[in-house]
Amino acid sequence: MKKKNNNYPDSEIRSVSFDETDSSYYDDDSDFENRIVAPEYNPEDAETDNPLRPRTLDAYIGQETVKQNLSVYISAALARHETLDHCLLYGPPGLGKTTLAGIIAHEMGVGLRITSGPAIERPGDLAALLSSLNPGDVLFIDEIHRLSRTVEEILYPAMEDFAIDIMTGKGQGAMSYHLPLPKFTLVGATTRAGQLSAPLRDRFGVVLRLELYTPEQLADIVERSAGILGIAIDREGALELASRSRGTPRIANRLLRRVRDFAQVIGDGVITCDVARMALDRQEIDELGLDKIDRLLLSGIIQFYGGGPVGLETIAAAIGEEAVTIEDVYEPYLMQIGFLARTPRGRCVTDAAYAHLGLTPPSQAGGQQSLFN
Ligand code: ADE
Repeated sequence: MKKKNNNYPDSEIRSVSFDETDSSYYDDDSDFENRIVAPEYNPEDAETDNPLRPRTLDAYIGQETVKQNLSVYISAALARHETLDHCLLYGPPGLGKTTLAGIIAHEMGVGLRITSGPAIERPGDLAALLSSLNPGDVLFIDEIHRLSRTVEEILYPAMEDFAIDIMTGKGQGAMSYHLPLPKFTLVGATTRAGQLSAPLRDRFGVVLRLELYTPEQLADIVERSAGILGIAIDREGALELASRSRGTPRIANRLLRRVRDFAQVIGDGVITCDVARMALDRQEIDELGLDKIDRLLLSGIIQFYGGGPVGLETIAAAIGEEAVTIEDVYEPYLMQIGFLARTPRGRCVTDAAYAHLGLTPPSQAGGQQSLFN
């Protein structure tokens, strides 16, 4: 277990169990832990994440619909002196689900406890966590789709009736205790809403979908982060960095730190468009934020399978990457920019991706081999 990371060093947050830095979060034998454009949390992010996380809805940039609706639900709950309904946040990694949980707790004026699905191994772990909550607390469970079925079953009465039934002993000596809990708000986060069981999904009164950010919104986030970290950047520099950040603030903030090094050592300390371009080119991150692995994935489908359709498992084996990593990490962005399509017969590379790689798509090649021409 690596160092625990408290992302909310704040007096109102009394205790935080946080394990994004737990190595079990990562696929240890994959390159992707070191991949600068991987949207997943990476232990190095902890370095600058703390001061960069906005604390209020006003300071949170983007996700306008989510913000407007949350603000109504929070105001209404506060006016009624009630806890906020349980909230489910879903969407690709790195978009600010943990940040939003912190904002909810802050705006409601309550404490925050942070954990994750894989960290809650046994029903007893969850029972201990729930019974230690203070009234009104926000309990954030990241990767909630990874809770085991037995743990999930404890959560149902906890969410619905604010009580749990605990069994002790075995056979004739078995006893059941009914334990009332303080009222709390569960904020669950998942990148895979489809994997949540229906009974769990149905117990969330508020369901919010986070979307990839536009380059302008990301440039605003980069400028805000640069201001907090004391980094000089102009708008063109911020936009260049933003447009290579795959719609993801976590990647934008990570690139900002790397580009700062280039600005300091090679430039005059200011991140301009030219400095950002040079620094990102040197890290082999192209104008659309694709890195070597993305290009390998696309050119692998083109080279070995004529551009597709090809099954996920097949392409995973061909490029030596886990199917689930391709599905969760690489594909969302490649599909968002229209480079990859999912069809019932498998994945297909689009004409736009061929053009980006400098190749002629089969539809324009008159039936000739299009690769490397
Ligand atoms: N840092 C990371 N995500 C952010 C957001 N949505 N708004 C402001 N700062 C951020």
